[in-house]
Amino acid sequence: MTNDPESLRERAARALLAARDRTRALTTCVDDHDLTAQHSPLMSPLVWDLAHIGNQEEQWLLRAVGKRDALRPDIDSVYDAFEHPRAERPSLPLLPPAEAHGYVADVRSRVLDVLESSPLHGAPLLDSGFAFGMIAQHEQQHDETMLITHQLRRGPAALTAPEPPRTADGPLPAEVLVPAGPFTMGTSTEPWALDNERPAHRRLLPAFLIDTTPVSNGAYLDFIGDGGYDEPRWWSPEGWDHIREHRLQAPLFWCHEGGQWLRRRFGVTEPVPPDEPVLHVSWYEADAYARWAGRRLPTEEEWEKAARHDPAGGRSRRCPGFAAFPYREYSEVFFGGPYKVLRGGSFAVDPVACRGTFRNWDLPVRRQIFAGFRTARDADTAGA
Ligand code: AVJ
Ligand code: FE
Repeated sequence: MTNDPESLRERAARALLAARDRTRALTTCVDDHDLTAQHSPLMSPLVWDLAHIGNQEEQWLLRAVGKRDALRPDIDSVYDAFEHPRAERPSLPLLPPAEAHGYVADVRSRVLDVLESSPLHGAPLLDSGFAFGMIAQHEQQHDETMLITHQLRRGPAALTAPEPPRTADGPLPAEVLVPAGPFTMGTSTEPWALDNERPAHRRLLPAFLIDTTPVSNGAYLDFIGDGGYDEPRWWSPEGWDHIREHRLQAPLFWCHEGGQWLRRRFGVTEPVPPDEPVLHVSWYEADAYARWAGRRLPTEEEWEKAARHDPAGGRSRRCPGFAAFPYREYSEVFFGGPYKVLRGGSFAVDPVACRGTFRNWDLPVRRQIFAGFRTARDADTAGA
């Protein structure tokens, strides 16, 4: 992307607008009752996400970047994700839907003035319009979260989307060899990359093979049909305990009826399409599938090297180390602990928040997220 201030301003305005179009689509297709209801204890009411989007935008773009007076300091705490876990958000004094819509629109119109008048250099939050890019990514991430809420919601379909385009690709080889050697992980130059993607640093990996496509529903059905959920040797001890305790037999949203597997997606129940990537399996299920297939899940380094590495280029860089920016609660507080790193994108991810370096995460039991997976193996194991 070019660093000319006008094209940066345009790019920031476009990214904010695209996020808002999506937010609007997700929050106007259901009635006020659906907006304020909690469709799953794992999720916020949609109307919480909506006003939280506006509140983050107010805090970072109006107050921190624009140095404007606070518009609604009284609601900061209600929309603070760390103060209130999702399960308790329905009982907070939330802005009702019409007020939430009005609030985000009001913030946005003032932000567009700030964008017009701010230099896009001279401070870390301003450089290359970082704060505007960060807030557009924040909104798109909550749009993905709201899409998950829609998927968990019961009742008739509220969302429609065109059929995805057919790809013209011929058949791909099942896996690809990524040769041994160093590669550059993360980035120091991508202007809107978030803190946990920085800085660029060298990693040395042995050769490995990785699937060219995500594991399909059809392949996952073979695992189920082979008794995969009843065979402890495919599972990690924690994964086995988890599926036994919760009696899991198949991906979330699947059910076996009249001799066939059906899935429910955005309010529509249909036969499981064998060629699509399998979704709504936990990390534990993906890990067990991979072991059953004689393989393993790729490491984060392997995934990024396979996605980004250009063997022709790449010189080493200095490594100044991680620094939280601009707030510790985006990623630093999630380092380590029970979380698993999640890489790559799906139909639910907007390009502004989808890069070879982008890092997401969740707990190993979670299944509601729109994530598929690939498997890998060491290059020196038998089977090629
Ligand atoms: C990176 C998707 C795990 O949704 O909790 C949104 C993104 N951070 N608001 C989340 C985020 C603050 C985050 N994930
Ligand atoms: Fe947030």
